[in-house]
Amino acid sequence: MLSLRKRLRSQTLGPASKMVGRPLQFFALFFLAILAPARSSAIAPAPASNGLCLACHGNPAAATKLANGEPLSLFVDPKAFARSVHGGKLACADCHVDMARVPHGVRQFKSRRAMSLAYYELCKRCHFAQYARLLDGVHYALLAKGDDRAPTCVDCHGSHGIGRPDQPRTRISATCARCHAAVVAAYRRSVHGEALASGNPDVPVCTDCHRAHDNANPLSAAWHLSIDRLCARCHANRALMAKYGISTQVLTTYLNDFHGMTASLYRSEKVRPAMFTATCTDCHGAHDIGRVGAPGSPAIKANLRKTCARCHRGASANFPSAWIGHYEPSLSHAPLVYLVKLFYLIFIPFVIGGLVIQILLHLWRAVVNR
Ligand code: HEC
Ligand code: HEC
Ligand code: HEC
Ligand code: HEC
Ligand code: HEC
Ligand code: HEC
Ligand code: HEC
Ligand code: HEC
Ligand code: HEC
Repeated sequence: MLSLRKRLRSQTLGPASKMVGRPLQFFALFFLAILAPARSSAIAPAPASNGLCLACHGNPAAATKLANGEPLSLFVDPKAFARSVHGGKLACADCHVDMARVPHGVRQFKSRRAMSLAYYELCKRCHFAQYARLLDGVHYALLAKGDDRAPTCVDCHGSHGIGRPDQPRTRISATCARCHAAVVAAYRRSVHGEALASGNPDVPVCTDCHRAHDNANPLSAAWHLSIDRLCARCHANRALMAKYGISTQVLTTYLNDFHGMTASLYRSEKVRPAMFTATCTDCHGAHDIGRVGAPGSPAIKANLRKTCARCHRGASANFPSAWIGHYEPSLSHAPLVYLVKLFYLIFIPFVIGGLVIQILLHLWRAVVNR
């Protein structure tokens, strides 16, 4: 790197610098001038100055040392940059606005991480919407508390080789896997993850449930109580579920039972539940959702008592039958409940009807007897 640094200096000092430096400054000013009105519109024309930066930064051996002794490669792969979403659209200086002139000033960073934390701010000039959303998310809340492990734009997207972040769709979980390896491993074995790997786009990926930029805390009460709606986006969609022969009654039956009723109540009352009521993921799992008939499934009969016992301590072997499952009661499923319902369906109108007739008869008699 020393040689590169010498070159940088020599351009300021040596006679060659006059030749190289002046047209450069001219170009830089020229581009800044034509860029200025385009800045706010996000799409900038592509000036041809990249070759200039790459004269030094296109050298694979270009490297330096940061203040903490960490080595830093200064190499920017021109091919990877050209293939990236920004290739042919942006100039180096569209992001590195403070380095439009050569020779450029040097910012001394403490560490690699300090550099990333400073440089991700470059993205907000053109992607303000994503930047603003990030500020609302759990990751940024961690960053703001000084937790360096939390991701910035660069950790998820890269810097010079940025690709379409959702293409292919499996790429999304790979992005999260860097830091959430255990969650991603469980997801890949789940019914959703397996379908995704086989090329099925109908199943949810990380960001369908958590969103990419403004992801909320999934362990909060409010989030927990809204999980049914998350699943219902697909599982109450008749056209989608018909493809897989999966019942769409799962939502209505859930909402009609004690757990679902309690969840709706909590939601509408905006009270903080003293104890979480069960939602979809308490019985099915969140990342490890399996087919309900599979041997390991928490929703299969053999495991159901254990599933209920997580919250209903001391649940007996018969306890699970306190819930009739996702079935609308019928003669074949829960006939007793069905018959009781049917009975009430006839009995209640009968009683109320009788009551009304009796009152009318009383009134009639009172009128006639007068
Ligand atoms: C004559 C060689 C040379 C040219 C041309 C050059 N650079 Fe550099 N650049 C360097 C050197 C040397 C360093 C490392 C300085 C150090 O040791 O910290 C560097 C560091 C950088 C860094 C990272 C470190 C920091 O201090 O922020 C960025 C970003 C950068 N250059 C961008 C550019 C851009 C954009 C251009 C084109 C407009 C460009 N460079 C043109 C030599 C050059
Ligand atoms: C889309 C915005 C963007 C563009 C365009 C861009 N850079 Fe960068 N650059 C960054 C970011 C962000 C970083 C910090 C990377 C990190 O933290 O790992 C960076 C870091 C660097 C570094 C420090 C070493 C490194 O690779 O991390 C150099 C040198 C550099 N850029 C040069 C260039 C050159 C030369 C070009 C043009 C070919 C260019 N950049 C185009 C955003 C950009
Ligand atoms: C000077 C403006 C500018 C800056 C700064 C900039 N971008 Fe971009 N970005 C663009 C343009 C223009 C596109 C191309 C839009 C398209 O082709 O759909 C784009 C596309 C993207 C895409 C793909 C979008 C999609 O719909 O698939 C991603 C991801 C992205 N940028 C991330 C970043 C990140 C991360 C940074 C910071 C390191 C950054 N950008 C900095 C202008 C910019
Ligand atoms: C935790 C990882 C992560 C972080 C941090 C992140 N992104 Fe993204 N981003 C994604 C994923 C994944 C997608 C793909 C779209 C999706 O799944 O919703 C995406 C999509 C995008 C897109 C395409 C348009 C869109 O909104 O879908 C742009 C542009 C973008 N990100 C820019 C940024 C910028 C700028 C930052 C920093 C302010 C940033 N991202 C931070 C993961 C991240
Ligand atoms: C660079 C590392 C990194 C990347 C990449 C990353 N995360 Fe995170 N994420 C973290 C850290 C650190 C936490 C804090 C909780 C912890 O210690 O696990 C966190 C927390 C979360 C939480 C909240 C969990 C809690 O316990 O509060 C969610 C949800 C989350 N991430 C989703 C995602 C998704 C979805 C992606 C991919 C689009 C992603 N993350 C990518 C580092 C990362
Ligand atoms: C079908 C919806 C869904 C999908 C897809 C999903 N999650 Fe989650 N995630 C949840 C739910 C629900 C919770 C809350 C867990 C609980 O209540 O026990 C959660 C919790 C989390 C947490 C915090 C608690 C923990 O288990 O560490 C992280 C981190 C997380 N998810 C990351 C991811 C990542 C990364 C992916 C992609 C592989 C992903 N999630 C895919 C629904 C989902
Ligand atoms: C983006 C749409 C989507 C979302 C959101 C979604 N799923 Fe699914 N789910 C599917 C599809 C499609 C299948 C069928 C996959 C297959 O059979 O290959 C499926 C399969 C299942 C199965 C297996 C059924 C069987 O065959 O035994 C269960 C259980 C399940 N999902 C539960 C959930 C739960 C719980 C949630 C919410 C935390 C959820 N899903 C969110 C689309 C979705
Ligand atoms: C995540 C915790 C959780 C799980 C798992 C859970 N429940 Fe519950 N359940 C509750 C809470 C809290 C209540 C009390 C508030 C309410 O009615 O929702 C409750 C109420 C009930 C009631 C109403 C009578 C009573 O005791 O208050 C029955 C019956 C019941 N659950 C059956 C089941 C069955 C069967 C399973 C397993 C298939 C199960 N539960 C799994 C949390 C859970
Ligand atoms: C109290 C535990 C419990 C809750 C809460 C629960 N389920 Fe289930 N789920 C089961 C059991 C047990 C089965 C298997 C037997 C059955 O269908 O009743 C099942 C079956 C399913 C199936 C497969 C249906 C089919 O046609 O093969 C899907 C999909 C499903 N549930 C999704 C959901 C969704 C979405 C929610 C939330 C709206 C939810 N479940 C809430 C226990 C639960």
